[in-house]
Amino acid sequence: MVETTISCIKADVGSLAGHVIVPEPMLDIMREHLKKEALNKGIIDDFYVFNVGDDLETVMTHNRGANDEKIHELAWDGFIKAADYAKKNKLYGAGQDLLADAFSGNVRGQGPGVAEMVFEERKSDPVIIFACDKTEPQAFNLPIYKIFADPFNTAGLTLDPTMIAGFTFEVYNLYEHTRIMLDTPEETYELLALIGTTSKYAIKRVFKKGEGKETQRIAAEICTEKLNVSAGKYVGKDDPVAIVRGQSGFPAVGEIMEGFTHAHIVSGWMRGSHKGPLLPVSVKDATPTRFDGPPRIVALGFQVGNRKLYGPRDMFSDISFDLVRKKALEIADFMREQGPFEPHRVSEAELEYTTMPQVMEKLKGRFKKIEE
Ligand code: F6R
Ligand code: MG
Ligand code: MG
Repeated sequence: MVETTISCIKADVGSLAGHVIVPEPMLDIMREHLKKEALNKGIIDDFYVFNVGDDLETVMTHNRGANDEKIHELAWDGFIKAADYAKKNKLYGAGQDLLADAFSGNVRGQGPGVAEMVFEERKSDPVIIFACDKTEPQAFNLPIYKIFADPFNTAGLTLDPTMIAGFTFEVYNLYEHTRIMLDTPEETYELLALIGTTSKYAIKRVFKKGEGKETQRIAAEICTEKLNVSAGKYVGKDDPVAIVRGQSGFPAVGEIMEGFTHAHIVSGWMRGSHKGPLLPVSVKDATPTRFDGPPRIVALGFQVGNRKLYGPRDMFSDISFDLVRKKALEIADFMREQGPFEPHRVSEAELEYTTMPQVMEKLKGRFKKIEE
């Protein structure tokens, strides 16, 4: 039995022009760093580096488990090197997500986003890595729900006898730092009541129900780090990653992809303060240019075998997503017409970590009591 850890660690450490893309030299810096300091030294078994908009993404496979200090330090050091290049060449937002002055054992809460999954390899393991730009972890609530709990999305929930028992969702309250486990289909409505409140709750993990160890039942893991909560002010958006396992008792790869056919509305976009459709794109189209968006998601399909990564296949490059993209762009157009008005602009509560508190501070003394 091979036990494998997949660590996806990402950060925005500089981009061009403005917040659009990570330039190729920065990706090369991270690739060389991971090759020299990790792969060649036998610390990791394989890696893949890519970008989604202004976010530099790493995928590493190893046998060291989640929250391993060495793995986190490797990612941190790579981000520092890429940020140094960005600083030297005056690229935009150089070092933006590196909130701490120095690495202190774990990147969580220090700015970078993390999704890590430990699983026992089966006969064959398809794994899809999703990565977003200009949005937040709660963007995954709707698609992950559809994939693992909606038979209108996932045929296997009614047709595969090994899936019919359903899945267990681990949900985080992002602000109170509490978590709850909910079983589907029995607690579907309670689950929806929570995860429909996207301003507060995010799906963290999904497990297959039934016997077996967590490392056999783990099906999905989502990065839930809130950059602006960690920083105490608006720095940039969280831009989360997610890891989803497919096939043979988990949703088929096509059922996983089907979850992203809705152009559903997410928060982020310009200045992290606007709602808009989530646009599924190929890696080459992960260039958020209109109003710094619309928010994007890419999907890389891998086979994981003996801790090696085979692939990736750029999953949203398929023409079957063209109509979803068209729909998303039409929604984007419509929403942009609303300018600074809710619900295109997010609510005041959601603006807490953006520039709104400064505007309110400035106007504070000018509010007078209405005497009538
Ligand atoms: C969104 C994002 C951008 C910036 C915007 C203003 O996550 O990063 O939309 O908020 O471009 O950036 P600054 O304040 O750097 O001029
Ligand atoms: Mg940025
Ligand atoms: Mg970003």
